[in-house]
Amino acid sequence: MVLLNKYRKIQSELGIIGKSEQIRELIELVISVAPTDISVLITGESGTGKEVFAKAIHKLSPRRNGPMISVNCGAIPEGLLESELFGHERGAFTGAVATKKGYFELADRGTIFLDEIGEMPIQTQVKLLRVLETGEFMRVGSGDVRKVDVRVIAATNRDLAEMVRQGTFRKDLYYRLKAVSLHIPPLRERKEDIPLLIEHFMKEVTNRSEIEFAGFTEEAMEVLINYPWPGNVRELKNFIETIVILSRGEKVTAEMVREHLSHYELPESEENAALPMPTGKSVERAERELIYKALVSLGVEMREIKDLLYQITDRLNGRFSEGVVVTPATVVEEDEIKPMDQVEREMIEKALEKFHGNRRQAARALNISERTLYRKIKEYNLDV
Ligand SMILES: Nc1ncnc2c1ncn2[C@@H]1O[C@H](COP(=O)(O)OP(=O)(O)OP(=O)(O)O)[C@@H](O)[C@H]1O
Ligand SMILES: [Mg+2]
Repeated sequence: MVLLNKYRKIQSELGIIGKSEQIRELIELVISVAPTDISVLITGESGTGKEVFAKAIHKLSPRRNGPMISVNCGAIPEGLLESELFGHERGAFTGAVATKKGYFELADRGTIFLDEIGEMPIQTQVKLLRVLETGEFMRVGSGDVRKVDVRVIAATNRDLAEMVRQGTFRKDLYYRLKAVSLHIPPLRERKEDIPLLIEHFMKEVTNRSEIEFAGFTEEAMEVLINYPWPGNVRELKNFIETIVILSRGEKVTAEMVREHLSHYELPESEENAALPMPTGKSVERAERELIYKALVSLGVEMREIKDLLYQITDRLNGRFSEGVVVTPATVVEEDEIKPMDQVEREMIEKALEKFHGNRRQAARALNISERTLYRKIKEYNLDV
């Protein structure tokens, strides 16, 4: 009982909800590493709570009154990452009009959270290793060695060990980072946390918006607990936020839940349950799959357009029986195959529109990295 209270208190202070054995063990680990300066590597699928745990470590550490700076290494273009992290001198490169402090300097006496560390280019990894070992670094374009007192927490949903084998992640940095590692299991492996999380998110929404919510039927709850949650806690949170609003005060049924779970049609077999971010070779496969998917949906749209054109031209031909004859076959045929880059551009625009310009979500839906999305937005000159 005492133990349960201890967890409740810690969890409410840290914002970590969950009572599963795995979460309790992770909290124990957080409590024991927080007071130290040891770097921590947090791994886990997307949406499992890596950032939540990173914040918890900072909050429980003696650095809690210092800054915590979060950097998403995957969202910053490769060429800029180094100067963003370590700063630059005026004139260090085109566009460096003034001297700028980097995130490491800004995080002095605090914590830096390096999210998506697997996206960090090798040259930057070398510099990171140096700061980790000596606290020293140099701004881009400067030979002056500077020193900072920063605790590093890194996170990734990629398999760094595999990246080390492939030579895309430095072995020395990997070992340095994983001195303490926290692996957050996917939600489907800790189902007992689901009801608690549901209750927590339900309260959050109803308190925030004063909406009445009647809850779920027993059967609906069962569906929620057994759903594989490929997007983990984030997906659950989004789902609750949506369903609370859609329910209009009525109890939510299993049918309604199924209808609104985005991947419900997925069978729950092991291989299909997980949808981790693709890496290496699977990126290529994922990109190919994306293109196939796009082509299939385009095919459907094409057929619809074709039908429509036939109808229109039938009507036109009827009206102008002599004179202009629009031949639907040629009109449509020319359009049927689109250049790949056009298809890609359209899909990106669609995704950005769907997620209201949120690049992280758009990238995830497109199955590409945020950096690739960033590059493509520039390449296609998309105004977002
Ligand atoms: N144990 C938890 N208790 C309460 N909220 C949680 C928990 N785990 C995750 N969340 C919530 O779920 C969402 C996703 O969490 P977070 O951003 O930490 O995931 P992540 O692992 O960093 O994901 P990504 O890999 O996509 O960056 C956040 O809104 C967070 O507050
Ligand atoms: Mg994160």
